Order: sequence, then C-alpha cells, then structure tokens
Amino acid sequence: MLNLKTPPMGWNSWNTFGSDINEKMIMETADAMVDLGYKDAGYEYVIIDDCWAEMERDSEGKLVPDHNKFPRGMKYLADYIHQKGLKFGMYSCAGYKTCAGYPSSYGHEFLDAKTFAEWEVDYLKYDFCYFPKSGNNQNAYLTMSLALKLSGRDIVLAACNWGSDDPAKWMNSVGAGTYRSTGDIFDVPKSFTDIFENQWDNCKNVPGCFNDLDMLICGMYGKGHVGVKGCSDMEYTTHFAVWAFMGSPLIMGCDIRNANEFTRNLLQNKELIRINQDSECRPPFRVCNYWEHGYGLARILDNNDYAVLLVNLHDKETKEQVYVTLDDLGFRTASNSEMEIIDVVSGENLGTFNDCLNVMLEKNECRLLRIKVKPANG
Ligand code: GLA
Repeated sequence: MLNLKTPPMGWNSWNTFGSDINEKMIMETADAMVDLGYKDAGYEYVIIDDCWAEMERDSEGKLVPDHNKFPRGMKYLADYIHQKGLKFGMYSCAGYKTCAGYPSSYGHEFLDAKTFAEWEVDYLKYDFCYFPKSGNNQNAYLTMSLALKLSGRDIVLAACNWGSDDPAKWMNSVGAGTYRSTGDIFDVPKSFTDIFENQWDNCKNVPGCFNDLDMLICGMYGKGHVGVKGCSDMEYTTHFAVWAFMGSPLIMGCDIRNANEFTRNLLQNKELIRINQDSECRPPFRVCNYWEHGYGLARILDNNDYAVLLVNLHDKETKEQVYVTLDDLGFRTASNSEMEIIDVVSGENLGTFNDCLNVMLEKNECRLLRIKVKPANG
C-alpha cells in the first residue's frame, strides 16, 4: 500500500537534542505540535532519532527502550502521540550498530519490525552506519522494507543512506517512502545551500517516494546538537522555501516548544506548505541558468499554476539578478500571453507580466513565486 501520497511532515529529535532525549520532552513536543498550530498546518510525525535504546537486547533478542529516558516504554508514548491525532516515528539502522553506537537491526530486521509494530510505530528512519563491508546496500533496505510491510502495521520506511549507491535510482523499487541522498545537515547556510546545489537535479519525486533533503534547521539559531553558527532569518526563509519547493519531507529540527514567532510563522506558512504538498508531486526543471550559482527552477502544480524558485547562492556578497521569462515556462514572449505572479512567502500580488520578471537577490536570498499563465487567445 502506498503510505505517503505527499511528502511527510513532522519533527525529529536529532538536530536539537542529539542523545539528550526523554519521554517528558517528547510528550511536550507532541503537545506543542497541537497547541501551537503545527498539526493544523500539516505536521503529523513525532520522531525519536538515535540514542533511545538500552545497550543490550533482552533475553528474547528484542530492542529495549532506555529505562531512564523512557521509563514507561514506547507503547505508552505511541498512545500519547496517537491520542493527539499525531503519528509516531522511531529510528534504527541497517548496520550492526546505530551511528551513535546503540544496538541496531542488521540480522534482526524481522524481529525489530515486529517490535516496532507492537509499539505502534508509524514511521521508521533507517540509517546506514556500521554496515558490513560484505553487505549489499540495496538488499539491506529491501529486507527492512519487507519486514515492515509484513509486520502487520502500516509503517513508512524513511531510508537514510546519505546517497550511497545513488538511491534516487532504486529506493522507490525497494519500497522506501523517503530516502536521504546527502550527509548530515548542520545549522549554517553553507550546509543547506550545498545540499540544495547537489540535489536539485536529483529529486525525482513521485507520490509514494520522496528525496529527503534532511531535517530542517529553521529556528535553531546556532543552538542544539547540530547547531554551529546559525543562520539569519532571511537564510532560514530561503532554507524552508527551498525544501518546500523541492518537495522534500518537511521534518522540523528546532525545539518547537520554544520557537520564536518568526520561526512559527515560517514553518506554518500555508502557501509554502501547499506547494510542498501538491498532489502531483512533480519534480522541478531549470528555467534560468546563465550563471553558475543563480538558480531558477519551476514546477508544474496540480492546478496548472507554476511554482518558480529564484535563488542566489553565489559566494560573493553582491546582489545578483535572477529571472524567469514566459518562454522558460513554455509560452512565447511575442504571443501576448500574461503571467500573473504572487510572491508566495509574503503573499504579495506582484502583478501581471508579459515578458519576464527580474529580481535582484542578496547572497542566499530567494523568491518563491506562484505564476498563473494566461495564454493569449484563450
Ligand atoms: C546519522 C544520520 C543523522 C542522525 C545520526 C544519529 O548521522 O545521518 O541524521 O540520525 O546518524 O546518530
């Protein structure tokens, strides 16, 4: 069964909390998802990343939640999260240890999938550390995918293999719902701009399987586990707009219990989320490519509007011009066709254009546009 029709939206513990996780913080985060408007905006998965387990399996070989961090176990948490109308995500790894050195699923796939199903898990992030040299990468994801499918519960396989063996080519075939194609994100602009630059042409999304550009750093401001220097609000806006536009899963990584108003408004921007959740899930094509780090990309949306992303990722601090023309969108400039353009982030109606729209952008700044083309003669 296709368990993801559009990119999943949720929150994951890793970016801010690393190994410092516990039941209380997860429950408070679930509360914040509902009370602070994230659930209404579309976020549903509450995901516990690495470091949740005891170091030893039990006498039956089952994974055991850390008794201090999760004293009432995972089914208790799952019930709490489900009763709020949210879904529950957990983490394991294809190797013989998780990335942080905890027990992992290599050789235990079917038992672990059954355990996750018993705990009523809805989403499993499946990482790639300590994978045996003799092992077969694709086969490892296939095994866990089948183990989950046969577990009796509908569980999304969120594959995280950092781009090993070109996963865009095969993750859909083995049954994954999402796949990471890059190394880890950190809370500095260069981290998210590098991910975008090496992935924009590698997002071959279709309903059911999405390239995961990694968890969002919006609102971290340099604090927390992957916090480095942080980004400006303009850069967080670019980061979120790009992830939304690319059709990436939107998995928040800041402490949403305490996020400031700017972050909340950004992460809950309805129009950005609407583009991300477009029902046709089409990948983008390039529209403006006259200089190396200035990107113009367009996506056809389900109502036949275009979403157009213009972004300046040049190293220089100077402003650069990026543009989109009617010809780029498949209409002839001389035909008197018109583009009605809305700035998606601000909601501003920019008016009607019958040739092209030029924008001057600061370094790391973007404009996300919704364009309705009115063809001449009908
Ligand atoms: C890897 C993943 C991260 C995170 C850590 C946990 O580095 O890429 O997203 O899950 O492992 O140890």
